[in-house]
Amino acid sequence: MKNFPLPRIEIDEACRERLLPYCRLQSGQIWEDDKKGHRVGCLDTASEQDITKLMARNKATLAIHDPPYNVAAFAIRDIQAFMLWSKQWIHHTAQHLMPDSSLYVWLGADQNDGFQPLADFMVMMRSEPFKSRSFITMRNQRGYGTPKNWMSVRQELLYYTLGNPVFNVNAEYTDIPKILRGYYKDVAGKRTENIERSGSENIRAGNVWVDIQQVFYRMEENVNGCYAQKPLKAIERIIQASSSVGDNVIDWFAHSGTTLLACELLGRRCFTCDTDPIFCEITIRRLERYRNCAEKGWQNSNPFEKELGIQTVVTNNSEPEQNMQGDLWD
Ligand SMILES: C[S@@+](CC[C@H](N)C(=O)[O-])C[C@H]1O[C@@H](n2cnc3c(N)ncnc32)[C@H](O)[C@@H]1O
Repeated sequence: MKNFPLPRIEIDEACRERLLPYCRLQSGQIWEDDKKGHRVGCLDTASEQDITKLMARNKATLAIHDPPYNVAAFAIRDIQAFMLWSKQWIHHTAQHLMPDSSLYVWLGADQNDGFQPLADFMVMMRSEPFKSRSFITMRNQRGYGTPKNWMSVRQELLYYTLGNPVFNVNAEYTDIPKILRGYYKDVAGKRTENIERSGSENIRAGNVWVDIQQVFYRMEENVNGCYAQKPLKAIERIIQASSSVGDNVIDWFAHSGTTLLACELLGRRCFTCDTDPIFCEITIRRLERYRNCAEKGWQNSNPFEKELGIQTVVTNNSEPEQNMQGDLWD
């Protein structure tokens, strides 16, 4: 099997040194897509100046943010510092959203440390202009867990709104079959249960998503080197539910560029950024790759395959290391 894995880009200094010369953006720069108007910035979401530059007076109807969780991957900070930082990018988000819009935030809870930062974030959001709407859990299984605790198989997703935004979730049926009966109701004098009443064999999306496969190295959408990649299907579900064709969508933690690609696939315009020039480059290359050969990632390859060649790629990557952010506790 052809395989050119990359190590965790954000921590492998040797790999970073090799990749940086191939990155077209440096800190403060923006790539503008001449086909669909997407924008990718090498910018800091906590900087008002950076975000104002990225948005270029545009406003969005949907924000999908996936910050580092302050748990396993990326730098871990003191919870007070993490919350101050979160307040900054939440404040910028509110400034760049339309009056009727939606905000989704992926966040983890460290069960060995008082469930920070998720618990703190939820409390902090009570003093922000957003209204809480749903608390979604996506099933995310990696590895075999631990015999000392319940296996961690969850990713948390918070859903907030401003004003009265679109919500199209009723149109979408999941791949989850109706396996449980119940919810009886009388229809035309006959007692029916929920399986009989609906036209579909499957259930509609609720706030527990068990039908989405966590990205791993055998999937076409896998981006080698990006250990916190979210599944395209999850991002597409959010975009379809909470925006309309032609809308602007923001994601200020780009990483592997999942939101940018989902916007391209669904006819939305994406404004995205990352502080790391390597993740910015990967984000742009992922879009270009899709446009050139309809591939959604680099299964069996990596975004820098052409430049690095087979023999020069660091190859100590192992299967269980993939997508560290999914494996928060074990
Ligand atoms: C959890 S990953 C996002 C994963 C993404 N949803 C995906 O599917 O690939 C978080 C990303 O945020 C970036 N990041 C961290 N701090 C940032 C900041 N202040 N501004 C912009 N990006 C930041 C990191 O470099 C990392 O790539």
